Amino acid sequence: MATLKFKDASSPYKQPLPSPPPEDYIFQKYLEDLAPKKELHHPKIKLALFGVGRAGTIHLSNIIASPRVKLLYIVDDLESNWESIKEHWHLEDVMFLTSEESSRVYRDLNVDAVIVASPTYTHEAIVTRSLEAKKAVFCEKPVAQDRLNTVRCYETARKVGKPLFCAFNRRFDPCYSTVRQRVRKGEVGHVHVIKTVARDSPLPGIEYLKTSGGIFHDCMVHDFDLITWILGEYPNKVAVRAHAHIPEIKALGDYDTVVATLHFPSGTLGVIDISRNSPVGYDQRLEVFGPKGLITADNERPLHSVTMQRGLQGATQAPIWYSFASRFMNGYRRELDHFINVVLGKSELSVTSEETLAVCKIACACEESAKTGKMVEINWPANEIPRNTENLI
Ligand SMILES: NC(=O)c1ccc[n+]([C@@H]2O[C@H](COP(=O)([O-])OP(=O)(O)OC[C@H]3O[C@@H](n4cnc5c(N)ncnc54)[C@H](O)[C@@H]3O)[C@@H](O)[C@H]2O)c1
Repeated sequence: MATLKFKDASSPYKQPLPSPPPEDYIFQKYLEDLAPKKELHHPKIKLALFGVGRAGTIHLSNIIASPRVKLLYIVDDLESNWESIKEHWHLEDVMFLTSEESSRVYRDLNVDAVIVASPTYTHEAIVTRSLEAKKAVFCEKPVAQDRLNTVRCYETARKVGKPLFCAFNRRFDPCYSTVRQRVRKGEVGHVHVIKTVARDSPLPGIEYLKTSGGIFHDCMVHDFDLITWILGEYPNKVAVRAHAHIPEIKALGDYDTVVATLHFPSGTLGVIDISRNSPVGYDQRLEVFGPKGLITADNERPLHSVTMQRGLQGATQAPIWYSFASRFMNGYRRELDHFINVVLGKSELSVTSEETLAVCKIACACEESAKTGKMVEINWPANEIPRNTENLI
């Protein structure tokens, strides 16, 4: 027997158990739940949630799953949904309010933090009122409809000394944060090309798109944030081509398909290929290429251990995730966890005001390039370049 010589006579019970790899973030979390550390005990953060639509429902399920928060209020104008939400989640002790009644949230000293997942045009007012009432704020992207009002929101946050977290959820995706760490360790060397493919599924409703702020501010901001967060660098030139294939989107003056090229001062080139309507599922890919190698984060699949069935028709694979709620489930959970840590004073805010404003500036430049058909230069005064580009989450 050729392998007999490798036989180890000692029992595995007599050997130290191998530690779970840090990459198994779900098991690491399980270990925390399995043996909670007494010294880590903290009071529950009390929350109000504004908006229980597509994004708000994801946050609601994560709030309910977290032992570290307690939901006190839901503010949403769609009163016809209240009863079913209450019953589905057993929210008998949560108070439901319309936006007109929301001053009750601001007045309530028990509310520590507010999660904003209402339509984009409502963000600025809710963020400002929450901050002025001394609540920490977690806000869905974008923080406000334009750069000036985003600046105002961050100024308010600074004045009152409360965190304003812009929820760029892709940073908290375990695969993307691993790509960043590996790029920052120099595994591909100086990056020559960074590419994202971001194709939305399902096609967002037209009512949503009417008030979304357009594809650059609503959708592509995720890619601008992801790319600049990985590189720690900001583009000085952008050239964009955009088209609306869908008549209803064209009628809004918006686009459904965009390709953007970004030029970075160090010579790195960025490419973003984005669509509003993907028939193949939520197509999200990332690639970083340099002289030492290539790192990719490919599409994930719900049944990823069942990769292929071979038949006379050839090989088939399980489909990719259908939508953001499934593909980024872990990212949404982890961003809420990060925010809770910030509110508890255990972590520094990882998405800074400078970063959010820089992303907004890139979105404006790309929008201008799409409209004019020309390359647009972006000037970065020293105070607009985010400083903490070396920090990892
Ligand atoms: N990070 C992501 O992956 C992601 C995904 C989707 C949406 N978003 C963001 O989330 C926000 C909401 O988008 P959505 O797709 O969930 O929209 P949605 O239309 O599905 O839901 C919005 C909800 O807010 C409620 N609402 C309306 N006005 C309100 C107000 N003044 N106060 C409180 N609630 C109010 C509506 O009744 C609705 O239930 C947008 O800013 C969007 O950019 C982020």
